[in-house]
Amino acid sequence: MGSIEGERTTVGWAARDPTGILSPYTFNLRNTGPDDVYIKVHYCGICHSDLHQIKNDLGMPNYPMVPGHEVVGEVIEVGSNVTKLKVGEVVGAGLIVGSCRNCRACKSDIEQYCGKKIWNYNDVYTDGKPTQGGFAETMIVDQNFVVKIPEGMSPEQVAPLLCAGVTVYSPLSHFGLRDSGLRGGILGLGGVGHMGVKIAKAMGHHVTVISSSEKKKKEAMEDLGADDYVVSSDETQMQKIADSLDYIIDTVPVGHPLEPYLSLLKIDGKLILMGVINTPLQFVSPMVMLGRKTITGSFIGSIKETEEMLEFWKEKGLSSMIEMVKMDYINKALEGLEKNDVRYRFVVDVAGSKLDDHQ
Ligand SMILES: NC(=O)c1ccc[n+]([C@@H]2O[C@H](COP(=O)([O-])OP(=O)(O)OC[C@H]3O[C@@H](n4cnc5c(N)ncnc54)[C@H](OP(=O)(O)O)[C@@H]3O)[C@@H](O)[C@H]2O)c1
Ligand SMILES: [Zn+2]
Ligand SMILES: [Zn+2]
Repeated sequence: MGSIEGERTTVGWAARDPTGILSPYTFNLRNTGPDDVYIKVHYCGICHSDLHQIKNDLGMPNYPMVPGHEVVGEVIEVGSNVTKLKVGEVVGAGLIVGSCRNCRACKSDIEQYCGKKIWNYNDVYTDGKPTQGGFAETMIVDQNFVVKIPEGMSPEQVAPLLCAGVTVYSPLSHFGLRDSGLRGGILGLGGVGHMGVKIAKAMGHHVTVISSSEKKKKEAMEDLGADDYVVSSDETQMQKIADSLDYIIDTVPVGHPLEPYLSLLKIDGKLILMGVINTPLQFVSPMVMLGRKTITGSFIGSIKETEEMLEFWKEKGLSSMIEMVKMDYINKALEGLEKNDVRYRFVVDVAGSKLDDHQ
């Protein structure tokens, strides 16, 4: 952190090319504009989308790229128009840091679907400069894209809520899937999946984890509170839950057949795709026609939903399962994430990593 004649710099960890290996990177931050909040980052979760971005799974990468979009920090300066946030408060920021404010999406508080949204990294801000994410000492974010973390919540626990948590909460709310007694499936027990189990259980659902192996069964049932656990390659287990689910939250991050999962849904059941998959997915039409089933997708959640979800999380007394690491472990953590070896979200202790020392 520093200020040299109006231009200030910060230190983050950036990928330089599609190998996705992060290393220290010093870059400029804009000054705090009237609507901006200057944040000292305390914690930032590692989402599988960070892996997709740094490895260029999605195309059009801007390197150097500082990823990280599950950011929790402390306000250290606010612009003159900022009224809802104060210096010293604990705040969160997620994947979106700007939108047009005029389109249907923006006017209906679903700004994550705005055609002109600005991603918190690997994008270009309104000043023409690249945006950079949360694996950095500090960030500048427009107040409209910053949420206040309710008092009493532990900041490192909260980090995964800013993407993974709201990603599950939003479609359950939007698609009318909040009623207690519903039967839900969580396909893929990773960062988003474990939030899925917690949130769906807190809504009173009967939750079945559908996993690629037996490995996570004990934790899923005993620590996360799932009601049932099925290994997707085991046809007998899958057959037992055929036609039984109201919805499936599908978090698998790679191409996979949809038909085995469509057959688990009841009439009018919904398969909600979360994974960012850049190859076509296939199914035959009777799989959806004979049961009036829906295949849909959903993208993070709005700021309004994030605020609502934080209150829900607090009210229900929930906690996430995280593995806390320092920044110099981040490349190993990303490797672990790629190999499906994390329980269930890595969170980087950014403030405790003394990024300045690595410059
Ligand atoms: N739609 C959105 O707004 C949104 C938001 C956040 C993330 N995402 C995307 O959602 C997907 C999941 O994100 P995440 O952070 O939860 O990822 P994650 O922690 O890596 O979890 C993915 C889970 O999928 C299962 N899986 C099956 N095949 C796999 C494979 N070949 N490689 C890795 N995992 C495999 C694993 O669960 P089992 O061991 O149980 O099989 C794994 O734990 C990613 O594509 C991410 O980009 C989307
Ligand atoms: Zn994410
Ligand atoms: Zn808009």
